[in-house]
Amino acid sequence: MATETNVKEYESFSEDDTFRLGREFGSSAAPGSVYSLEGDLGVGKTVFAKGFAEGLGITETVNSPTFTIMKIYEGGRLDLYHYDAYRIEDPSEMEEIGYTDYFYGEGTCLIEWACNIEEYLPESYVKISIEKVPEKGFDYRRITVTGL
Ligand SMILES: Nc1ncnc2c1ncn2[C@@H]1O[C@H](COP(=O)(O)OP(=O)(O)OP(=O)(O)O)[C@@H](O)[C@H]1O
Ligand SMILES: [Mg+2]
Repeated sequence: MATETNVKEYESFSEDDTFRLGREFGSSAAPGSVYSLEGDLGVGKTVFAKGFAEGLGITETVNSPTFTIMKIYEGGRLDLYHYDAYRIEDPSEMEEIGYTDYFYGEGTCLIEWACNIEEYLPESYVKISIEKVPEKGFDYRRITVTGL
């Protein structure tokens, strides 16, 4: 579990804001770090991932890995393992892709829909939770970071 002790909150008013926040996190990501990206469908997890990749110096465009569980992006300061666990029905599908090589490797992992594979998450990871706040407008997002 991510520890509840260190919680930081950010406000995003646009897709660009979320991208830039992702870029900031990507530029400071450490080897072997794991980030979960939580939040409803269409909230902006992949937007954050795109910024994160840019922050790592990856030039390839990050897309939603909808038809694979994980996609590898190389060529940046660290390799990025971008997971989308949305379609996982049985968490043991994680074993088929040899997840441990990545969770405990030298790259950095970003996991959309990490709630579907909770039992496979490492002991220590950073939880990034993105939420809409309807009364603050259509493009507003509250981004809560726990465990950094
Ligand atoms: N503040 C914001 N931050 C991020 N995205 C925003 C924001 N405001 C509006 N959007 C829009 O919300 C959508 C977010 O899409 P995105 O694919 O990143 O969501 P997702 O959380 O990855 O969804 P899924 O669960 O389907 O993977 C985009 O169309 C984007 O333009
Ligand atoms: Mg997505």
